[in-house]
Amino acid sequence: MSKRFYITTAIDYVNGDPHLGHAYEKIVADTIARSHRAWGEPAFLLTGLDEHGQKVQQAAAADGKPAQDYCDGLAERWQAFVAALDISNNDFVRTTQPRHQQVVQALLAQLHAQGEFYKGEYVGYYSPKQESFLTERDRNPDGSFDPLYGEVIELREENYYFKLRHHQQWLIEHLEAHPEFVVPLYRRNEVLGFLRNHELEDLCISRPRSRLAWGIPLPFDDDYVTYVWFDALVNYLSVPIARDEEAGLWPADIHVIGKDILKFHAVYWPIMLRAAGRPLPRQVLVHGWWQKDGQKMSKSTGNVVDPMQVIGDWGVDAFRYYVLRELAIGPDGNWTQEGFEARYTAELANGLGNLVNRSLSMLSRYRGGILPARHDELQADAQRAHDAILQQLHAHELQAALISIWAYITRANQYVDQTQPFKLAKDPAQAQRLDEVLYNLVESCRIIACWLAPMLPGTSRRILEQLNFSAPEAGLSQLGWGGLPCGHVIGTPAPLFPRRDRPPKAAGP
Ligand code: MSP
Repeated sequence: MSKRFYITTAIDYVNGDPHLGHAYEKIVADTIARSHRAWGEPAFLLTGLDEHGQKVQQAAAADGKPAQDYCDGLAERWQAFVAALDISNNDFVRTTQPRHQQVVQALLAQLHAQGEFYKGEYVGYYSPKQESFLTERDRNPDGSFDPLYGEVIELREENYYFKLRHHQQWLIEHLEAHPEFVVPLYRRNEVLGFLRNHELEDLCISRPRSRLAWGIPLPFDDDYVTYVWFDALVNYLSVPIARDEEAGLWPADIHVIGKDILKFHAVYWPIMLRAAGRPLPRQVLVHGWWQKDGQKMSKSTGNVVDPMQVIGDWGVDAFRYYVLRELAIGPDGNWTQEGFEARYTAELANGLGNLVNRSLSMLSRYRGGILPARHDELQADAQRAHDAILQQLHAHELQAALISIWAYITRANQYVDQTQPFKLAKDPAQAQRLDEVLYNLVESCRIIACWLAPMLPGTSRRILEQLNFSAPEAGLSQLGWGGLPCGHVIGTPAPLFPRRDRPPKAAGP
C-alpha cells in the first residue's frame, strides 16, 4: 500500500462550544489536504472528538443522561459544524468508539509489558478543572495558583506513571536533527529550550475509577481508567490501524494544533510512539490563537464569534477567506466585524466577484456566451502568479497564496479598466480587440477558480459551473493558460458575493 499524505486536526472536547478557534484549525488542515489533492497527491484528513474525562462525566450527570448518550447528542452537533465549514475529512474519530479504545488498550498493554510504567503514590496538588497534577513550579510567587486551574485540592492517591526521563535525550537530538518537526521554528525552539532546561517528570497515565469512571479502562488494572491525554493522542494512530490502513497512512505528515497543546504533541506523543517502536509524525504545525476585538473570547462576557452565525449571514467561503487571509499560520489573530466586512466588500465582492461577474456577463452580452479565439495577453502574468501560488501552497503558506491570487485578480480588474471592453463593444471596428480582451478575462476566471479550489472550494466550483467547465482531477499541476477552447459556451453568470449595503455602525468609544 503506498503512503498517502496524512493530516490531522486536534480532536475537540465534545462538551465545548464549536467556536472560531476550532473552525480555524479545521479550515487550515482542510486547505492543506485539498492543496495536496489538487496537485494530484491523495490526502487523508482526520478530525474528531475527545469525549472522555471528568468534565464530560460531570456535565452528563448534570444533564441527567448516561455519558454515552450525552456525547452522542453533542457529536451530532459537531459533525454538522464540520459539514457547515465544508471540511473534506475522510473520517471522523470519536474517542468513545470501540475501534479507538481497542488501539489505546493494545498500546497500554504493550508499554506495560515492556516495563515503561510503574505504580506510585502521588501526594500533592491537583486541579480538577484542568484534570492535572500540579507541582511547586506551577505556583505563583505568592504561593497561589493561576485562576486557570480553578479550585486546587490536595490529593493522595496511587496511579500508574510512564517513565519519561530516559526519553529526554533522544527527543532533544530528534528536534535538533529535524528542525521541521515543529513549525514555526520559534515553537520548535520553545520545545527545545524546555527540554534542555527541565528534567521531564514522569507522566501520570491513569485515574482511579473510583474518582473518574468515564474513561478507557487500563487493560492491566481494572481499578483505573486512562488519563484523557494519553487516550486522546492515540486517535491519530487508532484510525489508520482500525481502517487497516496503517501502512498507507502512518506516520502522519502533519498534526495541526494550537499553541496551547504543543507539549502534548511535541513531547509526550513522540515519546509514546517511540516507546512503542512506531515511526514519529513528520511535523507538528502550530497555529496561534484567535481573539475578538483584542480580547480573549469568552462565553461569559459574550465576546465570541459564532462561526455558524457568520456562515449563515455571509456564506462559508467568506468565513474561510477571512480566517485564512487575516493571518499566517503561527501568530495570534484578532477578529473584528469591521475587518471582516471590509475584506468581504473590497476583496470578495468588488475584487473577485466583480471580475468574474463582469467578465462572464460581457461575454454573454457581446458574444452570446461563446468564447472567441485564444489570446495570450495576460498569460505571462498568470504564469508568474501560478508559480508563486504553487510554491506557497507546497510550503503551506496559505495567506501568502491568497495574497498572490488577489494580486492577479487586481491585475485582471485593472485590465478591464485599461482596455474598456464596454467601449470597444460600441465600435464595430474594434470587434477583434474585444474578442482578445474577452478571451483574456474569461480564461483568467478559469485559472483563478482552479487556484481557489483548496481555500474556497464552493466558490471555485461555482465559478467553474458558470464557466460550464469541469476541472481535471489534478487541477493545479496541469493548470496552464489556454484551457478554454475557442467556441466554448459558458453557462449563466450569477453574482458570487452579493454586495451588502449596511448602514455604517455608530463609531465605538
Ligand atoms: N481535546 C484537546 C485536544 C486533543 S488532541 C489529541 C483540546 N481540545 S479543545 O477543544 O480545547 O481545542 C481544540 C483545538 O482548538 C486546539 O488545537 C486548540 O488550540 C484550538 N483552539 C481552541 N481555542 C482557540 C482559539 N481561540 N484560537 C485558535 N485555536 C484555538 O485541546
